[in-house]
Amino acid sequence: MKIAVFGLGFVGLTTAVGFANKGYETFGFEIDRSKITTIKNGKAPFFENGLDSALQAVINNNLHITDDIKEALDCADIIFYCIGTPMSEDGSADLSYLLEALKMSAKYIKLCKKVPIFVIKSTIPPSSLKEIFLPFLQNLGLVENIDFILANNPEFLREGFAYDDFMNPDRIVIGADFEIDKLKDLYSKFNAPIFFVTPNTAEFIKYLSNTMLSMMISYANDMSVIAKSIGNIDTKKAFEILHLDKRFFGNPANITSYIYPGMGFGGYCLPKDTLALYKKSKMQGYESKLIKEILDINNKIIDFHINTIDENLNTDIGILGLSFKPNSDDVRDSKSYILIKKLLDKGYKNIHAFDPISNDIFHNTYGLDIKYHSSLDSIIQSCKSLIISTAWSEFKNLDCKIVDKKIYNFRYI
Ligand SMILES: NC(=O)c1ccc[n+]([C@@H]2O[C@H](COP(=O)([O-])OP(=O)(O)OC[C@H]3O[C@@H](n4cnc5c(N)ncnc54)[C@H](O)[C@@H]3O)[C@@H](O)[C@H]2O)c1
Repeated sequence: MKIAVFGLGFVGLTTAVGFANKGYETFGFEIDRSKITTIKNGKAPFFENGLDSALQAVINNNLHITDDIKEALDCADIIFYCIGTPMSEDGSADLSYLLEALKMSAKYIKLCKKVPIFVIKSTIPPSSLKEIFLPFLQNLGLVENIDFILANNPEFLREGFAYDDFMNPDRIVIGADFEIDKLKDLYSKFNAPIFFVTPNTAEFIKYLSNTMLSMMISYANDMSVIAKSIGNIDTKKAFEILHLDKRFFGNPANITSYIYPGMGFGGYCLPKDTLALYKKSKMQGYESKLIKEILDINNKIIDFHINTIDENLNTDIGILGLSFKPNSDDVRDSKSYILIKKLLDKGYKNIHAFDPISNDIFHNTYGLDIKYHSSLDSIIQSCKSLIISTAWSEFKNLDCKIVDKKIYNFRYI
């Protein structure tokens, strides 16, 4: 298998050196001549632990560095595009360098004996592959070829650990319309699960990861400002102690259950404590927009879900789960209550409900005019549509078992 890598920056050089060290015949193409010279001399143009020695092990062996595009592309099976996608003036991702690289290669591919698989490794905003790159390549007359395949394969390496991360990935994500055997074979030499997902999903996963990291950093900074506004708080110590929370440990760490979409947080603690800290720091002179936004999103997410319900299904709807979370009968500040209340206010008739252990306590707490069921089978029989409102394991895979009713999986279980 011959691999071509376009762009030999942090991602591209690491990718080229990595594939070459896995035994693949790899050609690295770069337009910056000074980078080419440095790399050909066995040195990366930037510092990355372990990369220089890995480069020296393969250079002029099965890694070939070139500024001759024909040499790079001729008979290639796969091309990886690792071109920069910097911030443009208006803040959006500047895809022009990547488009230029595709244009350069398209010209030569037409002269080549075989059509390689085009794989975009650069970070591109969700929907770019389908809405920008595919039409662009179509205009260049490539897509008509029956062998033409365009995929994306986001890279998750961290600068400072680039080579090690590339060689030992935790997941390999490929965005494509179908499973591509050549990419599966290529990555079978890496000890990591391979996920084929839609191109939009693959693009989204990369941003899901990066924006989560940004959010955590801004969250920590915002909390440090709150601490300062209140005073007499040892911020450094407080964060060190936070890190001991056992939910951060294990595989997968239990904290992942908090980084999951659903109907928002309820229960006795999170809503009241988040609001109380917002109020306290506001009183002390610092209004945290982030915490305010956390609360606003939590309040609005139910409306987002309700708006997805088919308007014709406004009678005999079943609510699955009443407690604020599974494995608990606590219904205080339960999102199911807010959901049912909003449905009643909208004029929904014959609302049914079932919770494995919280029917009575929910009824005694809220006294809503709804019909309770003592079993899952009973509520399924009685309803035209069902909403999974608490992520009890009993409700997993319901959509596979029930085919004749609409199921709204608001907890994404
Ligand atoms: N740096 C990271 O830690 C990291 C991690 C994951 C993903 N990414 C993403 O990967 C992409 C590349 O990032 P990077 O940090 O490697 O960028 P970079 O700027 O270090 O490297 C890009 C390289 O592409 C070359 N290039 C530009 N046009 C070219 C062309 N037409 N043909 C051949 N080469 C060309 C440039 O000269 C440069 O060497 C970006 O989309 C980035 O967001 C970066």
